[in-house]
Amino acid sequence: MNILMLVGSLRAGSWTATLADSLVDLLPLGTHASVFGELADVPHYSEDLDTEHPPAAARALREAVAAADVLVVATPEYNGSLPGVLKNAIDWTSRPRGSAALAGKRVAVISVSPSPRGAQWAREDAEKVLRVAGAVPLATSVGVASVHSVVTDGKISDPDLLRALSDLVTDLLAADPAAA
Ligand code: FNR
Repeated sequence: MNILMLVGSLRAGSWTATLADSLVDLLPLGTHASVFGELADVPHYSEDLDTEHPPAAARALREAVAAADVLVVATPEYNGSLPGVLKNAIDWTSRPRGSAALAGKRVAVISVSPSPRGAQWAREDAEKVLRVAGAVPLATSVGVASVHSVVTDGKISDPDLLRALSDLVTDLLAADPAAA
């Protein structure tokens, strides 16, 4: 099984990346997970760029999403919503109509914030946008609130949260088209 992760924070030391890493730690042996590393290089979506020969990073993103069995979208919250870098990735992979990489793709959405709300608005918006783009968000998602208090040595250490992430992993594995 091949899981592709889109991590919506580009900064070093990101809590969102910490959460994504903690999810990977819970995956069973034999599951391949990778973070798409070129999100920052994907240009702002423009139909003028979306030709037969789109920019290399956009093409790489589309190919990586198409090759994934399932996606994980990990998002921080910027001004009450998902950050532009993730919205841009979703826009690129929602096209071309009829053969979009995102079409029918199962997606787990996870979010994190230092605030007590756990980036709930970002998570809800990400799910809405993914649905409109043709993807299929899983019924479950995980939002990590007050992240400073649930991380030890760079990993999620809170038992309740680890249980919630384990449950999400179970749903993620069941969403593999090969498991159907
Ligand atoms: C934020 N932050 C934030 N937090 C939140 O809970 N709700 C919000 O609406 C916002 N808005 C916001 C806008 C911008 C432009 C920035 C830079 C930050 C704070 C944010 O949750 C915090 O910086 C996280 O640490 C960002 O995630 P990473 O980079 O640690 O993964």
